[in-house]
Amino acid sequence: MKNTSVTFKEMKKKGEKISMLTAYDYSTAKLIDESGINGILVGDSLGNVMLGYPDTVSVTMEDMIHHGAAVARGVKDSLVVIDMPFMSYQASVYDAVINAGRLMKEGRAGAVKLEGGEEIIPQVQAIVKASIPVMGHIGLTPQSINAFGGYKAQGRDIASAKKLIKDAKLLEEAGCFAIVLECVPAELAAYVTENISIPTIGIGGGAGTDGQILVYADMLAMFSDYKPKFVKQFANVGEAMREGFKAYDNEVKAGTYPAEEHNYTIAAEVLEAAVKGE
Ligand code: KIV
Repeated sequence: MKNTSVTFKEMKKKGEKISMLTAYDYSTAKLIDESGINGILVGDSLGNVMLGYPDTVSVTMEDMIHHGAAVARGVKDSLVVIDMPFMSYQASVYDAVINAGRLMKEGRAGAVKLEGGEEIIPQVQAIVKASIPVMGHIGLTPQSINAFGGYKAQGRDIASAKKLIKDAKLLEEAGCFAIVLECVPAELAAYVTENISIPTIGIGGGAGTDGQILVYADMLAMFSDYKPKFVKQFANVGEAMREGFKAYDNEVKAGTYPAEEHNYTIAAEVLEAAVKGE
């Protein structure tokens, strides 16, 4: 069944949990889609996971379109959400609408995601008015890493918990169809979830949110630069890859790969005729 922004809202109403993972390429997206995951986020975490940057600040619109379109080509049923990268929407409402439109037209997204609360409400309203579904993202918002001074849990004091609740309500009123809650205390995430009508998708927000999202390379133990507290490794694909690469290296060096069954054949007389007179 094709998942859309409307499906997500209906799932909350029915009390059904929503599953999401990130992806950045065709083959991974296809595997995730075939596994029945409801949504795929082409996150700007591609900056860390795919491009080797220390943060998401350097990720460009061209990066997001390039990877977003690859993911969209691999997906049949999951909702594809593409992240709006740093500085593609913060400076003006005009930038926000034009860039969201590019992610839909060129990236073939089903929705876009923006980080921030009160300060980006005019942008969210304008994008929604252009008939583009918007997913919000509050709590730890990695694009603001330089303002936060590090990757820290948010909403742990009265002022920041109040801001989180207010931002969630403002994003709901502005027309978001769902909100990501990143690195916030479980009780606060559950409170927000119970007090808004649109689904919350948690990452480091406990089990009380309407859905969960993880970076696929974290949950498969493929990304080893750091491991956030909330990550559970569901399979050790990183180790399986390392073993496969080592086995290949050994066989190439031992001359056991390629073997007979991997070879193409040529009739002896054809080869003889071809090399005659060489
Ligand atoms: O970029 C990303 O992967 C994200 C998720 C962590 C929610 O925004």
